[in-house]
Amino acid sequence: MIDTDPGIDDAVALLLALRSPELHVEAVTTVFGNHDIATTTDNALALLALAGRPDIPVGQGAARPLARPFLGHREEVHGARGLGGAPLPAPQSAPVTQPAHELIIDRARAHPGELTLVAIAPLTNLALALQAEPRLPQWVARVVLMGGAYTRPGNITPLAEANVYHDPEAAAQVFAAPWSVHALGLDVTLQATLEQADIARFGTRGTPVADFVAAALPFYQQFYRARKGQPATPMHDPAAIAYTLDQSLFQMRLARVTVDQSDGPRRGHIQTTLEVAPDDAHLHIVTHIDLPKFRALLAERVQ
Ligand code: BDR
Ligand code: CA
Repeated sequence: MIDTDPGIDDAVALLLALRSPELHVEAVTTVFGNHDIATTTDNALALLALAGRPDIPVGQGAARPLARPFLGHREEVHGARGLGGAPLPAPQSAPVTQPAHELIIDRARAHPGELTLVAIAPLTNLALALQAEPRLPQWVARVVLMGGAYTRPGNITPLAEANVYHDPEAAAQVFAAPWSVHALGLDVTLQATLEQADIARFGTRGTPVADFVAAALPFYQQFYRARKGQPATPMHDPAAIAYTLDQSLFQMRLARVTVDQSDGPRRGHIQTTLEVAPDDAHLHIVTHIDLPKFRALLAERVQ
């Protein structure tokens, strides 16, 4: 199940998952983050229509963090409607009546030990699911998440990564729960980049999916170039799908973490202890990616 706030990199992540025959996407759940909940849900439905998969259930989730109001979307990162102004077909389906956290519980209960929760957005829906059903960790095979900055600075603040910063209380609950968590933070996702030539190649495929990606990515590329001074464009969320598909592309370390939930400049910062004993750890921090293989995977699948 993919919990997402599309978002340009979320869109590429969803399309990578939908075009990967090894994965069965059981459902998509949406949350506020890159945009408000109505827009992220609409974007998820439209992306499923684009990929020809309107049959996949979509559960609309949280409109705001557990403890705070939503700070509002940042148009400069993902564009006015969250997808860089790229044209998309109209949604061909509507969200199911169950809210996201209930859909997560429902599907986990129905498939005990089989489900990977891939969370590429603020962790509010996962925290709500944990609160509503304490047995959830027994049923979920593992959680793969994009979020955090463990050994390097943040992106939304000097100390915090955006998905964790948007709801540190939720992140703390997800890290504390007794399930296996595999976390891809900025440490690895800033390595998972595309160059201009990789982006341009999507425009030569002649498929609706590749055309959409070629139209959406330049906005994200421009944000990273102009605002962050980064020539290559990070694919944060697609890295989490790639990890779910093929862990052999990555290196990781066991860790223990504490999420800062205070007000002020440290909010969302993650204090990280690496090298904990295996008995003492259920958290894997992903540290390195095989970049040529990641780029090849995206080029081969996203079309
Ligand atoms: C994360 O924040 C969002 O803007 C992206 O979609 C990604 O999930 C990166 O910090
Ligand atoms: Ca995201």
